[in-house]
Amino acid sequence: MAEDAKLHKDQVRAHYNRHVQPVLNTKEALSQRAQSETYPLKKFHNDIKRQLLLRFAKGKQSLLDLCCGRGGDILKWNELGLSYVRGVDISDQEVAEASRRFAELGPRRKGQWEADFQVETNLGELPYDGDGPYDVVTCMFAMHYFFESEARLRMFLRNVSSNLAPGGYFIGAIPDGKRVLWHMGEAGRMNTPMLKLQKDWKGSGPYPAEDGTLPTPFGHRFYFAVTDTVTSGTEGSTEGSMEFLAFMNPIIRIAAHYGMVAILDYDSPELDRLLEADSAGLPFKYFFPQFPPHVDPSLAVASSINTTFVFRKLLPEEEMPPLVPPLPSQLPQPPPPPSSPGTSGPVVEQQRHPYEAPQGSMGEQVNVQGAEEDQLQGMTGEGSEHEEDESGHHQYLMEAEMHEQQGDDGGQSSGEGGGSYEGD
Ligand SMILES: C[S@@+](CC[C@H](N)C(=O)[O-])C[C@H]1O[C@@H](n2cnc3c(N)ncnc32)[C@H](O)[C@@H]1O
Repeated sequence: MAEDAKLHKDQVRAHYNRHVQPVLNTKEALSQRAQSETYPLKKFHNDIKRQLLLRFAKGKQSLLDLCCGRGGDILKWNELGLSYVRGVDISDQEVAEASRRFAELGPRRKGQWEADFQVETNLGELPYDGDGPYDVVTCMFAMHYFFESEARLRMFLRNVSSNLAPGGYFIGAIPDGKRVLWHMGEAGRMNTPMLKLQKDWKGSGPYPAEDGTLPTPFGHRFYFAVTDTVTSGTEGSTEGSMEFLAFMNPIIRIAAHYGMVAILDYDSPELDRLLEADSAGLPFKYFFPQFPPHVDPSLAVASSINTTFVFRKLLPEEEMPPLVPPLPSQLPQPPPPPSSPGTSGPVVEQQRHPYEAPQGSMGEQVNVQGAEEDQLQGMTGEGSEHEEDESGHHQYLMEAEMHEQQGDDGGQSSGEGGGSYEGD
């Protein structure tokens, strides 16, 4: 298992190392990105990160960015009035690129803030002392990598908390495993012009086994590719980057263990516009992409897999509040066994829409606080389902499914390169 973990980390590092294009200066990178098909997604994800930072990090002194990548958020940090930022990442090439970009900021740097970028390979294995504490810790689009095992997620969140000042915020974005599962459907894969998903587990994976045994929410590997982003390219013979399904309740429970509690209301009209209204009052809030009509709908699907989160570290004298509201608990229906009649198509009818009301036996409600001891087998309580919305947004999702059903696999990922995923 330890060897597996090392292999996975090496694979992730190699993947991100390959995607750095240090020959480009920031101006060239931005111009190249503006012509990319995925520009609306990149811009939208940047908008979300910018608004999160403006809301929760502006006016603070210090920020630690875990899994910082190539420094795509440097221009956003430049607007916050910070004094110091540290970025750490497993990829030495990305760290080098982030340092180069910060140096390139030169006279455009607002105020006297400093930044350091460092390689850190053991955030999920060893205690990390980032010379904090920091007012803000961020982890954008990367915490799912620690879902390889419960131990790794625990160590990662321990490291977040130990580097975060009491009262400080832990801010991030993360893809929701439940939506990934839904989109993969019974086939365990999705193949649309802009988004490709492929499961990489055996047996029932994240679904309950036939004998009713509950699965662990950890260790479910899949491949994920959004055309022309850092997730594209190939890993061996498989397209996309290797990721792990991430679920919300384990994060909430472990974060609570380390004294961090989710902010349910961001109190920000700017963020409200970018996030699904149905996420109001919930700890994880789904992206609400609204791309121009000419953009392939599968790009919005790729974006709407993601959620934001903000946790606050409690003050020493503060008591942990009850972790309510209890999270509605649904997963996509487990796929029927392959031998079942009428299930040979790529998408199961009842899974046609990801956000419909729960069905079947998995709708039991979980009180998160009470479930702290249940060995984090939290697959019965992963976030909220959503009523079908007649608006254009969910039309995107339906249209993307139709692409898949028609076997339309045009627009293969472009292999190496092509702009950063969230880079500014
Ligand atoms: C999708 S990128 C996001 C980069 C950046 N946070 C952003 O928003 O642009 C994921 C990043 O996580 C980093 N990463 C993955 N596993 C990691 C680990 N175990 N420790 C540190 N960084 C890791 C990768 O090298 C990559 O830079």
